[in-house]
Amino acid sequence: MSEHGAPLGPIEKSSVHTAGGMRVGATILGAGMALPRTVFTNADLEKLIDTTDDWIQQRTGIRERRVARREYGETTASLGARALQAALDDAGMRPTDLDQIVVATTTPDMPTPATACQIAAMLGAGTIAGFDLNAACSGFVFALNTVDALIRSGVARNVGVVGSDLITRYVDYTNRGRGTSILFGDGAGAFVIAGSDDPDRGVLARAMHTDGSRWPDLFIPRVEEDYPPDFDHEGHGVDINCLHMNGRAVFKFAVSTFSDLIQETLDKVGLRPEDVDHYVCHQSNKRILDAARERFGLPEEKLHINIDRYGNTVAASVGLCFTELKNAGRVRPGQLVMFLGFGAGLTWGSSLWRL
Ligand code: UT7
Repeated sequence: MSEHGAPLGPIEKSSVHTAGGMRVGATILGAGMALPRTVFTNADLEKLIDTTDDWIQQRTGIRERRVARREYGETTASLGARALQAALDDAGMRPTDLDQIVVATTTPDMPTPATACQIAAMLGAGTIAGFDLNAACSGFVFALNTVDALIRSGVARNVGVVGSDLITRYVDYTNRGRGTSILFGDGAGAFVIAGSDDPDRGVLARAMHTDGSRWPDLFIPRVEEDYPPDFDHEGHGVDINCLHMNGRAVFKFAVSTFSDLIQETLDKVGLRPEDVDHYVCHQSNKRILDAARERFGLPEEKLHINIDRYGNTVAASVGLCFTELKNAGRVRPGQLVMFLGFGAGLTWGSSLWRL
């Protein structure tokens, strides 16, 4: 057994795990990602809307993003399935070893079935528990907290956690949408999380918040009646099925909330900012991430940024970030990792893990 406890192996699906009074932990056994093949650069956007590569890079840190295309079979479910298969390969496990799949998404391919069901079928995972969870850009972090609790309570043992979003389906690529089209991209990230016989592995502290009164700051209306009564249509019009974002308001909210969230999470366990090995954050805007890094005096290598290549990928971003770190050999058992997300809802949340 390693210093931090060996992960428990796959279980028979029929053998329902119960904690039975024994404390168990949770461990991230594998991580994977999947991206659409089409790269959409700032230069490509310059051809469609009134913007410049310089403006986008200065205001957001983004150089390019990926855009999913149906003709390549790229859907929320198929990208999620590819990411989860990669995470299973990383963990040395098979789809049939999973007893649950939890998918964080804001953009399921259909209202029903849940994306988790489609992914289970695509991978051949058999009859397992599968459900989706929607907390927008905070979705993956909310899912990590949910899955850790399911495992510790004995409800689940080996869980596939997926964040998959094709948000560009709802982006307006005309000048009216230039505040959002520059920002968003598509992708998927996934973890395989399993029970561990070391109760000190898994979530050490968490926070999950929602201020529902702020939903008009970021929403996708399906019918005209979905608009809030006092919505200022100036510059927006009535754009059904388009992402509406009050960029300035969300930016202001994010800069203060993000730092407060880090402090709140550290306070719960009496840690200092420098005690955490990696901050794996939702990639919303490089300026928001830089502000948090500067407030806590963190070195660049502790707060991973990949928004330059993928843009804001909603529920996929945290999984994408961690997978890149893991693939680069930068994560090790025993390290402390704080996952952070915020977005539509408005929602914000953290999940501090001992790996
Ligand atoms: O993940 C979910 C949460 N979402 C976020 O975290 C997004 C948060 N918000 C943001 O990242 C930023 O608000 C944006 C990147 C969306 C916009 O940046 P900003 O610095 O807040 O710009 P702004 O909206 O205040 O606009 C500044 C100027 C305006 O012109 P005037 O009024 O100063 O003449 C805009 O019309 O920039 C103009 N502008 C653009 N110019 C070139 C707006 N969009 C563009 C554009 N290209 N694409």
